[in-house]
Amino acid sequence: MSNQIPEELIEQIRGANDIVDVVGEYVQLKKQGRNYFGLCPFHGEKSPSFSVTQEKQIFHCFGCGKGGNVVTFLMEIESFTFYEAIKHLADRTGIELPSDSIKTESSLSKENQQILSAQEWLTKLYHHLIRYTKDGKIGLDYLNERGITEEAIDTFKLGYAPNTKDFIATFLEKKGFHKQLLVKYGLLNRNQDNDTVSDRFRGRVIFPIRNHLGKTVAFGARALESQEPKYLNSPESDLFQKGKLLYNFDLAKKHIRKQSEAILFEGYMDVISAYQSGVENVVATMGTALTDTQAKLLKRYVDTVIICYDGDKAGIEATYKASKLLQQVGCQVKIASLKDGLDPDSFIKKYGGEVFRREVIGAPQTFMSFYMRYLKKDFNVSLDSDRIKYLEEVLKELAKIDSSVERELYINELSAEYNITAESLLEQIEQYREKSGSEKDKREKDRYTNKGQKSSGKLLPAFHNAERKLLAYMLQNRSIADKVQEELGASFNIDEHKIIATYLYGYYEEDNPEDVSLFIDRISDENLRKLVIQLALVPTQTEISDKEINDYLHIIRAEGSTGVDIKQLKAEQRLAEQQKDPIKAAQIALKIIELQRQVKH
Ligand code: UTP
Ligand code: MN
Repeated sequence: MSNQIPEELIEQIRGANDIVDVVGEYVQLKKQGRNYFGLCPFHGEKSPSFSVTQEKQIFHCFGCGKGGNVVTFLMEIESFTFYEAIKHLADRTGIELPSDSIKTESSLSKENQQILSAQEWLTKLYHHLIRYTKDGKIGLDYLNERGITEEAIDTFKLGYAPNTKDFIATFLEKKGFHKQLLVKYGLLNRNQDNDTVSDRFRGRVIFPIRNHLGKTVAFGARALESQEPKYLNSPESDLFQKGKLLYNFDLAKKHIRKQSEAILFEGYMDVISAYQSGVENVVATMGTALTDTQAKLLKRYVDTVIICYDGDKAGIEATYKASKLLQQVGCQVKIASLKDGLDPDSFIKKYGGEVFRREVIGAPQTFMSFYMRYLKKDFNVSLDSDRIKYLEEVLKELAKIDSSVERELYINELSAEYNITAESLLEQIEQYREKSGSEKDKREKDRYTNKGQKSSGKLLPAFHNAERKLLAYMLQNRSIADKVQEELGASFNIDEHKIIATYLYGYYEEDNPEDVSLFIDRISDENLRKLVIQLALVPTQTEISDKEINDYLHIIRAEGSTGVDIKQLKAEQRLAEQQKDPIKAAQIALKIIELQRQVKH
């Protein structure tokens, strides 16, 4: 890996970034013993098998096998190059990289880099216009009228696109951007003549849409008056996919983690209004239904999501769909509902931020209460037949709740409201639970057997285990590695182990410290890297006796020599059989049996 950043600086940057903090920005980690555990961000799973070891500064997933250090984690999750990962870590801790080390090397295509740069310029320009110029005053007035403060305008870098034909076109062309590219990413429109271009966003308030790293990847633009369409977004591109991104996720992330709760809105105006009233763990989709990707993204950070959608019919329908999706990925859902069919932004404008915080966000309904009301609209519960159907649906949902206390609460409520004994409701629920329970058991069992196949760890032959143990000690202790190098060299039986040992000898010869997280940077092969991480996690004792090491060496050598001998003898035996020399073949067979017995002891 060539780079012009001095080795010591890389070390300093790495030392300043604890892997637990960095991974914690992507995964909700819980401490268990000496390690941290969470749901693996690299494969879908419902129970945590992703671990981070602070002491060794490494991560490892027992489910999919991915593992590495803080740098490879970022390279993996962000598709960063090595340089970008280091740069990210440096920025994170306020460490400056020497300017001559700045390379153009990037995981992004040239095109994407250019568009990001153009959008960064535009974000600044639009923002400047609204804040400081006469041309932008009309936009500022509009936002003020809607109750948006200057502070929020700055935080969200809101702006104004003037109602001019080619203001942006001229600005960006002067900066050297190619108009073809700008058209492709929807910053400019191509005119009828097919040759000239003009501004796409005109006379609109601009909402830069940032990705999770805070980079503007698109713009949302709202008309000032009744111009159509009301909202105009940048088109979808490889940089911007509505369904994969949540508005304000970059800023909300740390609040979401701190409060162990995320609040989900339908649009950016809602986010900004809520933020102004002091609710900061807020994100939004952009006028489209929540997707599976977005739900999973949230689940990586929190267990609980409060949905706060419009109080109108469409909003309630969307709330139900989003709830189901979030529950499917394992989130607990609560519903903050708004009266009078208002949306969060208009609610705050009407009743104030304080009421919103206290009565809406502060007092959400459980999903079940929401569902009971939601479902009612499909039935005429004053009719016997409808009432029974309604209750059946509610009970089915109730059966999914694991807490019996909570179930009872709703049962009592239903019993009182519909004049049915709690016992008969309970009985019905038990039936539903039994049915779904057996399905659940089966799933659990499938999972178990899958796992059983994968983790063959305990069934390894003795020599294999000995090699693993020995390598685990060698990774931790240089003097053990020295001893093994002298006595065994690279004569491990498993090819991968040979390679790792060779790398390790070289690593120690260069006077590097006993540090797995550093060591794996030497290994470019992903599978080998995974294996090293696994080896680093093999349980070891703090004190190991010479005898134990010698035993391991012995087992490894025995396998090495006998392995070859037996193979050779077997070949000879076959030859003897082919040559029709049964006595010789039998003699060889005896030798083989003898050797095999020796190995066993
Ligand atoms: P609405 O069209 O319901 O917005 O879209 P609204 O709340 O009535 O708009 P205001 O309050 O008059 O400004 C809800 C949200 O969906 C997003 C916007 O974030 C909007 O706030 N949206 C909608 C888009 O991003 N693009 C669209 O084309 C439409
Ligand atoms: Mn609105």
